[in-house]
Amino acid sequence: MVDPDAAARTVRDRFPMALLELEPRPVTAPPAESAPLLECRGVCKRFGAVEALIDVDFEVYPGEVVALVGDNGAGKSTLIKAISGTQPADRGSFRFDGRDVTIRNPTDANKLGIETVYQDLALCDNLDTVANLFLGRELGAPEHAPGAVKVLAESEMEQLAGRRLDDLGVTTIESLRGRVGTLSGGQRQAVAVAKATMWDAKLVILDEPTAALGVAQTAQVLDLIRRLREQGLGVVVITHNIDVVFEVADRIVVLRVGRRVATFDQRETTPQQVVSAIVGVEEA
Ligand SMILES: Nc1ncnc2c1ncn2[C@@H]1O[C@H](COP(=O)(O)OP(=O)(O)O)[C@@H](O)[C@H]1O
Ligand SMILES: [Mg+2]
Repeated sequence: MVDPDAAARTVRDRFPMALLELEPRPVTAPPAESAPLLECRGVCKRFGAVEALIDVDFEVYPGEVVALVGDNGAGKSTLIKAISGTQPADRGSFRFDGRDVTIRNPTDANKLGIETVYQDLALCDNLDTVANLFLGRELGAPEHAPGAVKVLAESEMEQLAGRRLDDLGVTTIESLRGRVGTLSGGQRQAVAVAKATMWDAKLVILDEPTAALGVAQTAQVLDLIRRLREQGLGVVVITHNIDVVFEVADRIVVLRVGRRVATFDQRETTPQQVVSAIVGVEEA
């Protein structure tokens, strides 16, 4: 467990010139054209003495990619868990798609259309791509006899799986019938995203989607993220990779020791400004 004061000291030790400034900075105006898809206000979460989230506001617009960045312990995972219902917030209000909502558990979030792809991807390596995409939602063949072993509509599922991957621009998976365990990291990420967005997803949260990937596979995953945006989904990407941030994000939200300290429009920002906000170093 990290004590926030200790975390702040660590940053000061690492960046001795840092003028650690924990007051929230002015937030740049969000895109005015549309209403937010997700709007969180005053989110707080405490673990014993640790205030992991302090009065955090967060919003995502439809068709927007938001990069959620911050140093280790900043509160990124805690915020994502509050939104995805795996670890509800202590306080805070949530609006989704224009309605006030409560998110108490993952089922609440899923019903709203909030899908989260965690770093471990939660795929079944011993099953093929089709089976992974339909896990728990297998289609039955229409005319199977009562009492007979349920026959799955394999070819229909394979078609739907292929179509979803095509929609996402995923062309590198040679056989949808090969075991997922044999796919590359980028392909596995694609399968996990396809699975998350098969059924009425509106907001997709990706936790470090490129962390384990090389350059070419990272490029594929970034294309995938752009495709989600084109389809009008809201996308939140947690990443430590500043290049990824500048490749795909429209807006950049910075958390530092539990607070939202900065928000940037990617087109009007430099990587140096973002890094400065992450570590709390005032620019010269
Ligand atoms: N389950 C937990 N129990 C106790 N402390 C936690 C727990 N989860 C997170 N924390 C603490 O909350 C703070 C924020 O953590 P986290 O959200 O994981 O940060 P990030 O994802 O930005 O690295 C850290 O100080 C962390 O140690
Ligand atoms: Mg984390």
